[in-house]
Amino acid sequence: MTARRITDRLGGLAFGGDYNPEQWDEPVWKEDDELMRRARVNLATLGVFSWALLEPEQGRYDFSWLDAHIERLHANGVAVDLATPTASPPPWFTLAHPEALAVRADGTRLVHGSRDTYCLAAPAYRSAARRIASALAERYGDHPALALWHVHNEYGTLCWCDHAAAAFRVWLRARHGSLDALNEAWGTAFWSQRYSSWEQVLPPRATQWHKNPGQTLDFHRFWADEIIAAYCEQRAAIREHSDRPVTTNLMLPYCLRLNLWAFARELDVVTSDQYPDANGLDGAAHVAFYADRSRSLADGRPWLLMEQGTSTVYDGDQVIGKEPGDVLRHSLGHIARGSEGALFFQWRQSRAGAETWHSAMLPHAGPDSRIFREVTQTGEAVAALGELAGSTVTASVAVLDDPDAMWALEVDGLPSSRLDYHAPLAGAHRALWDAGATVDFTHPEHDLSRYRLVIAPSLFLMSDKGAENLRRYIAGGGTLLVQHATGYVDERMHARLGGYPAGPLREALGIRVEEHRPLRTDERITLSDGSHGTVWSESLRAEGAETLAAYTHGMLAGSPALTRHRFGTGQGWYVSTRLDEADYGALVGHLLKEAGVEPDVPGLPAGVEAVTRHAADGRRWHVLINHTEDAVPLPEPAHELLTGTTAHELPPGGCAVLRGH
Ligand code: GAL
Repeated sequence: MTARRITDRLGGLAFGGDYNPEQWDEPVWKEDDELMRRARVNLATLGVFSWALLEPEQGRYDFSWLDAHIERLHANGVAVDLATPTASPPPWFTLAHPEALAVRADGTRLVHGSRDTYCLAAPAYRSAARRIASALAERYGDHPALALWHVHNEYGTLCWCDHAAAAFRVWLRARHGSLDALNEAWGTAFWSQRYSSWEQVLPPRATQWHKNPGQTLDFHRFWADEIIAAYCEQRAAIREHSDRPVTTNLMLPYCLRLNLWAFARELDVVTSDQYPDANGLDGAAHVAFYADRSRSLADGRPWLLMEQGTSTVYDGDQVIGKEPGDVLRHSLGHIARGSEGALFFQWRQSRAGAETWHSAMLPHAGPDSRIFREVTQTGEAVAALGELAGSTVTASVAVLDDPDAMWALEVDGLPSSRLDYHAPLAGAHRALWDAGATVDFTHPEHDLSRYRLVIAPSLFLMSDKGAENLRRYIAGGGTLLVQHATGYVDERMHARLGGYPAGPLREALGIRVEEHRPLRTDERITLSDGSHGTVWSESLRAEGAETLAAYTHGMLAGSPALTRHRFGTGQGWYVSTRLDEADYGALVGHLLKEAGVEPDVPGLPAGVEAVTRHAADGRRWHVLINHTEDAVPLPEPAHELLTGTTAHELPPGGCAVLRGH
């Protein structure tokens, strides 16, 4: 029987991170033991990039060094999250199997010298990955220190080589059944693209002009399935020898390569990595965006933050040094939203190699440093929150997220290059977060009945099933806000005929979009209610809906821009431009009010985040994070877990975890 809850094994929430002791030697390991105790580390991820050490030549394994580290950690009370090292094949592998090196769309074959340089569809790579996973599982599968299996690292490497082409064809045959069906789906009647044999079908490699949209979309779908299949093979190899939970660390939220909904179903526990792209309030909103997506992928079950940084990430334009206090605030931002702990990349900052300048729990400066002090303070905080283990978070608002719709905006020849999947998705989440609402993400075909308000910010592609589901949601009493350029194409990338969006949704929204009119980069339009829009406009007919704001200029003057339709016992709203942030925030605030959605902890000022975790037995905890520079009085005094005392106020920039009732 698989022990699914890591927290049972740890006796509380998880705290720790990637541990790469092979970069150091004995005196440092001794210091690690002492400092890990000081920081209250209870989980370390080992072996993520250790293939070359574990298997120095094909079929010859050397586990002695790993044995020693696992025993040492175990003796020190640190459990192990053991990785399979398959994200970084060793030099001998690529020398022996040059055909397994990744090829880009332009035909460039990559060479050894970094990491993630393989084709996941190459048979030699796949069998080598299965073998090393199996060898590790056989050796450590029932080790008492082992809490979790960490397969691979951040899956998401694509390839356009001949192995990928062969696997793509197998996938296409299964999806379409026949070449005729593929020709029909891809619209190959145009531009003389009709295929008369399967061998003619290729991955979307570099072309002179637009690639076929159906081909590009299917290539994304193919890779998403292939990646899951590669994970499942390693999971199967592990399960032959081990009953511990198996996961892989998902990279969120802008990952274009994965079908996160499908992948999450294969994980015993959803784990994810998070590196914010801003500081201050924007950084905190980003944390919440990641965390809400991770929890939603876990379908409400507990999940785990596998990686975050303590400060800068080495990447050129993304050098964001965290502010003092962010390590705790960000860790609690994740825990508030259901994470069963807070882990980092990595324990000790490298002194050499590719990630020398990436921050870590223990910086180059050593333990006498601001970062290590904050890490220790955070470790103590996490240790004080053991009673939260297994509790979950509920939301009454949802944002719709569909990888097919995301990939649909990756194809060539779209009506505008400014249609972006993630910006409106993050914008919707941000407006809800600003208003204090706890947000789930969900798929347009999932059951929506538990939500009072649902937002569809970015569904350019919508299946018939999705459109029908949204219609049913509104008819049954839900409030749905649909944003511009929704439901223009079906799941094959075929345009919807007779007006957008897809039929059942048109009916529920009481509108028909007749024509799209993308705005110029510098164009900002004013609507009749004084709000402003950019990026997009549409010639829209109200067919039952009331017009709440109309266009004021040009050929669209007087025609509807923002509409509401009462349908069944619910309401369908449609906004046909990208509203400015403040106007959009006001609209979302209004919808929350109408839908009767209250913040988790009412009565807190703007800039104070509050989320409630609920235990199955009725206990609950409010996690509060003060992003302002002022002390904030609590609505009522309560027992606070981080200090173990009764709290009356929240200090500037401070956090509190209150026992609720
Ligand atoms: C993650 C990766 C880690 C490390 C980290 C640096 O994406 O899993 O191995 O490279 O980024 O931010």
